[in-house]
Amino acid sequence: MTNKPHTHAQWSSRIAFMLAAVGSSVGLGNIWKFPYMTGESGGGAFVLVYLVCILLIGLPILMSEWLLGRLGQKNPISTMSRISGRLKRSKAWVLIGVGGILAAWLILSFYSVIGGWALAYIRYGATSTFTELDGASVGALFTSLLGSPGTLLAWHSLFMVLTIAIVAGGVAGGLERASKILMPALVVLLALLVGYAATTGSFGEGFDYLFRPDFSRLTGDVILAAMGHAFFTLSLGMGIMMAYGSYLSDDVNIGRTALTVVILDTVIALAAGMAIFPIVFANGMDPASGPGLIFQTLPLAFGNMSGGVVFGTLFFVLLVFAAWTSAISLLEPIVEWLEEKTPLSRLQSALVAGAATWLLGIATVLSFNDWSAFTPFGMTVFDLLDYVTSKFMLPLTGLATIIFVGWIMGRDEVRAQLNMSGVAFAWWRFSARFLAPIGVAIVFVYGLVQ
Ligand code: PHE
Ligand code: NA
Repeated sequence: MTNKPHTHAQWSSRIAFMLAAVGSSVGLGNIWKFPYMTGESGGGAFVLVYLVCILLIGLPILMSEWLLGRLGQKNPISTMSRISGRLKRSKAWVLIGVGGILAAWLILSFYSVIGGWALAYIRYGATSTFTELDGASVGALFTSLLGSPGTLLAWHSLFMVLTIAIVAGGVAGGLERASKILMPALVVLLALLVGYAATTGSFGEGFDYLFRPDFSRLTGDVILAAMGHAFFTLSLGMGIMMAYGSYLSDDVNIGRTALTVVILDTVIALAAGMAIFPIVFANGMDPASGPGLIFQTLPLAFGNMSGGVVFGTLFFVLLVFAAWTSAISLLEPIVEWLEEKTPLSRLQSALVAGAATWLLGIATVLSFNDWSAFTPFGMTVFDLLDYVTSKFMLPLTGLATIIFVGWIMGRDEVRAQLNMSGVAFAWWRFSARFLAPIGVAIVFVYGLVQ
């Protein structure tokens, strides 16, 4: 095994770092996954638990990953090995990094397939397919896409090629600069969709569905789903945020920066929900229709609004862009790890990691058609990959991370890194030592037992 020297410059500015972190966190998780999970879980109760998990678990773990990364100054595996070595602690903490890389591979394999759906919808948008659609035909459009493994595979392949190209070239910087324009554009288009939703006559119903909790819907599995999604949406438990932390300069306030990212990510998810649910109710659709939810609702909005061809196409372009920046952040740690631990060059590492991910993605493609009856543990392959990562691996590595920062690292070192004092630090430390780990542990055990 070789250990190539690993040095890097610090971000030129806080902005560049923010763009990378927001690029990773804002993606399909906000616009595709959050709404359909909310719909499957029955609405407001899920949303409430999700918001609590974001604040009490997601925020402190995001801060922990960044402070570890800034201290370790290396990739997640080397960072954990270096810091635990210095503290004379077991090298087993390295498993946080290893688990993260495995989870990134599993997640990217299905993330890319969904990114492919969004690519397909750019094409539908641009060819005016959405014009004059009704509830039934928009469903049929989606069903026929899912029923064609060849088409799905082609779009999945294109999405993977786009992702590999950026990671192989190491040119993500240009993308980050582009996201400075495209992310705000996505927010504007979401606002437009919320505006459209307000004209459907079911806005109040959609709003109530999201924000009025029906606690009878709160099962162990719903709580586990909400917690798992808090990890997924903030890109936690994979060493990704830890890797970004290694680029963070010492004068950046981790707490304030983390809060900004968390708020942005949450607002975008809630806006997507407010755009989608009124359309669901106005058209008598089923909120629990699953992963196809946005693809069966938003085209109705575009089909009915003036300028819908332009807006519809643009929306899916921006969605693909958001998914792309997240996918890059998923592939990057795998490639970095291969590059460091094997004699492979960066290009070769990107090709190997990308090919392995593409290959596994085929299982997800088939899970929607030819293999839909193949259900190990009672789930399709897509559901299983999603379950194992969001509800199992991410919470577990996240739990290990926060236990490490809360219980293994010295109080003073953590306080210096966070640059917090007084009540704020006392509260942070209380969350990191008790609230977050106990919360994750309870949800985890409760959800798995049920
Ligand atoms: N956070 C991204 C999203 O919400 C997905 C993602 C998960 C990205 C894990 C990186 C790591 O779409
Ligand atoms: Na997200």
